[in-house]
Amino acid sequence: MSSAPAPNPAASDLVRAARGLPVSRTPVWFMRQAGRSLPEYRELRAGTKMLEACQDPDLITEITLQPVRRHGVDAAIFFSDIVLPLVVAGVDIEIKPGIGPVIANPVRSVADVDALPELDPDALGFIRTSVGRLVAELGGTPLIGFAGAPFTLATYLIEGGPSKEHARTKAFMHAEPQAWTRLLERLAVSSSVFLRTQVDAGASAVQLFDSWAGVLSAADYAERVLPHSRAVFDGLGDRDVPRIHFGVGTGELLPLIGQAGADVVGVDWRVPLDEAARRVGPGYSLQGNLDPAVLLADRATVDREVRRVVEQGRAARGHIFNLGHGVLPDTDPDVLTHVVELVHELSAR
Ligand code: CP3
Repeated sequence: MSSAPAPNPAASDLVRAARGLPVSRTPVWFMRQAGRSLPEYRELRAGTKMLEACQDPDLITEITLQPVRRHGVDAAIFFSDIVLPLVVAGVDIEIKPGIGPVIANPVRSVADVDALPELDPDALGFIRTSVGRLVAELGGTPLIGFAGAPFTLATYLIEGGPSKEHARTKAFMHAEPQAWTRLLERLAVSSSVFLRTQVDAGASAVQLFDSWAGVLSAADYAERVLPHSRAVFDGLGDRDVPRIHFGVGTGELLPLIGQAGADVVGVDWRVPLDEAARRVGPGYSLQGNLDPAVLLADRATVDREVRRVVEQGRAARGHIFNLGHGVLPDTDPDVLTHVVELVHELSAR
């Protein structure tokens, strides 16, 4: 009797595209695919705070699987949040609905940096449990683990919550260079522990979110931020999983952003993928970059824009279709399912 080989996420189109290897069709997933665009998510989350949900293996597993079942995406992304490692370490943070992470005692001095609690890897047992269950459920579909990059985490800690200009963060970076370095070093350690935990429990790829890095000049990014993002990826050692590095508004940073140790550079909607491929240079795959707002438009517009992104993505050595940033809460989930089908149809080899 012969039996089919067990489905292997390490041989999936997502992992292969990330490495620039031939694929059966362009893999697609959506940042924030698990979340408020899904009625089944809203139902499950009712009455549970975001950061409580992120520490409950039953909720983590079910919420992570919901978009995979519904849309047939080519990857699951672990349901959590970039601030979770800080919360587990004991930093007083709340995620307020419609606002985002809010920090009780913002970091404003060297003493505040030194007072930040350290993350104990042993406190992440619920992550190991959840990833283990997910990998068993997902079969050949890869699970993407993720973490926040030190700069983006620092913006929340310093501002005390979400901000547009990140002015306090940039002022701190310039005025307190030693405290800045110490803060980013510490954040790199905690993000690294968070990523390693997910990979060692079975995640098949990782994404480092430096969502707000686009507010920096290329010079400041290269000197004061990039080395700390690199430290996060370096913390993965020789673990053989592809590394995706993403930020919003990074057009000017694209030639640098891969240098942190990425296999894949995530691109928002501002730079077309053929131009992005030129800017990042050879040796990287691309992820992106449909404008999430387009999903709120009519079907003909959605189709036209999906076609354009798939076409322009052919300029990269490998392309993972995604949005340029997260799914907007008002998005009709049926449109997401349609996009998955269309990308697959347009790219079938
Ligand atoms: O992509 C996914 O579906 C995986 C889960 C995920 C969440 N947050 C769940 C979440 C991931 C990868 C994140 C990362 C994250 N969190 C980032 C980087 C990605 C990005 O968007 O650039 C950032 C900056 C955060 C911080 C954060 N958490 C913000 C700004 C918000 C939005 C607040 C709001 O309500 O508008 C959150 C909350 C959050 N994270 C939600 C989800 C599903 C919504 C909370 C809810 O449903 O109550």
